[in-house]
Amino acid sequence: MLVTGGAGFIGANFVHATVRERPDVEVVVLDKLTYAGDRATLHDVASRITFVEGDIADTALVRKLVGDLGPGGAVVHFAAESHNDNSLHDPWPFVHTNLIGTYSLLEAVRAHGVRYHHVSTDEVYGDLPLSEPADDPAREKFTPDTPYNPSSPYSATKAGSDLLVRAWARSFGIEATISNCSNNYGPWQHVEKFIPRQITNILDGVRPKVYGAGTNVRDWIHVDDHNRAVWAVLGRGRTGETYLIGADGEANNLRVVRALLEIAGQDADAYDLVADRPGHDLRYAIDASLLRDELGWRPLHSDLESGLKATFDWYRDNEAWWRPRKAATEAKYAQLGR
Ligand code: NAD
Ligand code: DAU
Repeated sequence: MLVTGGAGFIGANFVHATVRERPDVEVVVLDKLTYAGDRATLHDVASRITFVEGDIADTALVRKLVGDLGPGGAVVHFAAESHNDNSLHDPWPFVHTNLIGTYSLLEAVRAHGVRYHHVSTDEVYGDLPLSEPADDPAREKFTPDTPYNPSSPYSATKAGSDLLVRAWARSFGIEATISNCSNNYGPWQHVEKFIPRQITNILDGVRPKVYGAGTNVRDWIHVDDHNRAVWAVLGRGRTGETYLIGADGEANNLRVVRALLEIAGQDADAYDLVADRPGHDLRYAIDASLLRDELGWRPLHSDLESGLKATFDWYRDNEAWWRPRKAATEAKYAQLGR
């Protein structure tokens, strides 16, 4: 199996789970080691995998690695530029990696007839209104039929990459599946992202920073539940199908930050509201019925507060991993006034 982006947050958790639970699978990781990738994340499994440092947009390298997979091989494509705030500052790496990189992988799987799974995001659908009451079970969620309507350069390039996959499946018959997942949390997430940024701020004695009024809603899922869903799609998913992945974990940003402050034994109101993100999506929510009904997937981590506590403890216990990136990340945010 060729895992792209295996030194990043979700890809590394996928590699760890695969090595632990499926020792028969030979894993090759292809990762460019951008600011978001870190070989240390794969330290514990280094002897069980093959690591290749390289760019998914390098068509010759990708064609060789895909060709080497042999019968029964598969590509699981996690590599991406993944952070919305960065895409507002400099969209080019997003176009390069998310569009050209995906094109390069699609051409390689087409040439070699290899199974391909494309890891994508719910952000391709744009956002949902905040107006419906939070306790209304009938309020709107994203479904596989929701029209694409991305808001940021990040989500637009992910939407474009999904459409490339659909076209290659229909026109060239590649054996492909797509999954669109909501916001992940868990170990090894870069400190630029909301939950690790606030945990590490709290650990550093800095007040958490919440954009705008803090009312934006995200549908949180533990990274291990996301990756179990990817395995379910790889094993039993129908070729050409799109599966939405979500664990009914809707929470607004204030609820998350207040929970983190309470976990740390601090005043739940000890956060600062800062300048909002331009074009900030209001609410994401996933209808994962297809995944649940067709593939029998269920999340194992359904209580957000206990997942946040475990994640808080992980960052407290693994400072050596995140510390090298913290100062540069905060310096970038300071320039943006956030
Ligand atoms: P991440 O930023 O933590 O990791 C991305 C990895 O890709 C890094 O290791 C980086 O070095 C590598 N990479 C970047 N450009 C590359 C290139 N040109 N060639 C090779 N490697 C390259 O991202 P993540 O949060 O782990 O996201 C992984 C995937 O999951 C992405 O496709 C993202 O769109 C998708 N996704 C993420 C979330 C989330 O909440 N984080 C939710 C849904 C979907
Ligand atoms: O929905 C899936 C997407 O989730 C993935 O496709 C992206 O790769 C991933 O980064 C994530 O996107 P978001 O923009 O939702 O995640 P982020 O962690 O950047 O922000 C989560 C929410 O928290 C969002 O409403 C913005 C807000 N926020 C973020 C930061 C970094 C803050 O209020 N303060 C912050 O400091």
